[in-house]
Amino acid sequence: MSEKTKNEELDFTNLGFKYRRMPYRFRAYNKDGKWSEGSLETNERILIHEGATVLHYGQAAFEGLRAFLRADGTVGIFRPYENATRFRRSCERLLIPPVSTEMFIDALYQVTKANVDYLPPYGTGASFYLRPYIYGDGENLGVSAAPEYVFSVFVAPIASYYGSDASDGKLAAGKYLISTDYDRAAPHGTGADKIGGNYAASLLPGHLAKSSGYVDVIYLDSATHTKIEELGGANFYGITADNEFVTPASESILPSITKKSVMELAKDAGMKVTEREVFADQLGDFTETGAMGTGAVIAPIGQIDYAGRTFTYGDGIHAGEKTEYLYNTLRKIQFGELQDEKGWILDVKVN
Ligand SMILES: Cc1ncc(COP(=O)(O)O)c(C=O)c1O
Repeated sequence: MSEKTKNEELDFTNLGFKYRRMPYRFRAYNKDGKWSEGSLETNERILIHEGATVLHYGQAAFEGLRAFLRADGTVGIFRPYENATRFRRSCERLLIPPVSTEMFIDALYQVTKANVDYLPPYGTGASFYLRPYIYGDGENLGVSAAPEYVFSVFVAPIASYYGSDASDGKLAAGKYLISTDYDRAAPHGTGADKIGGNYAASLLPGHLAKSSGYVDVIYLDSATHTKIEELGGANFYGITADNEFVTPASESILPSITKKSVMELAKDAGMKVTEREVFADQLGDFTETGAMGTGAVIAPIGQIDYAGRTFTYGDGIHAGEKTEYLYNTLRKIQFGELQDEKGWILDVKVN
């Protein structure tokens, strides 16, 4: 598969969200408690010890960011220092020796620059997805932290995770299912960390929902099963008729960097922005809902099915006006069509 995709002509307007082998990835190794300097490597395959903690006990964390080719021809990475901080927190939760912010940012910088020939052109709506990850390796058997670690960043050209990118000038809304059978995260568990185990647990409910025609699952809080937490790969928001932007407050959801950004944009646009409990049976209070994340960008939700009830937003298939505004504003900042007044973008000098 890798060899096939290596030289394939990329249709940048129809990328979806999938792995495509790029020439270079960054890797650094931790053997005696110290990180190597790290360098770019060309082999996408990794040799791993059969006792590696990542294989048995899920000792692994990751991140996801985007890099854009902007209107003026420059390259920028969106809010990488936020990801560096969250990555560190995930590592600490799993007893993984964190990499320094400096190494994290430098790795993003190096892979973006080294693979820049594959960066989707401005105007396609696509970008690079940067995937930093870290895992426990080396000789081990019992449940304990690994003796060795690998930190790596690879990159792939992508469009949108939920396939919601505007192609006809209109943003498509999807159909989502609230799971009443499965939970994503427990109070005081690992829901707020970006670690493999959370996603392994979401595979079956995600598969069942997708097989029934839904885009993804919306999870409830596992203590009371009454409140919206988040989706399998994005945070949730709703907008009320009186211009309130509401997003769930919970200690067991991933603190989304896209959400943090969209909250600012909503506030700037004059909306009242609130993080609070969002009860599933009150979803009818909203006139628009959506999902926010690096992959999802802002994915409008047109319909939510919940325990025999259906909530519909707008015509059910297109984004509402406020969602469209927030999406366009975020994208314009990312693609350099609006000035980055908030200092969200890290410039990557590629020449
Ligand atoms: C479970 C989950 N929630 C939320 C998000 C959104 O976070 P961010 O905006 O930082 O990408 C993601 C990843 O995109 C995710 O996997």
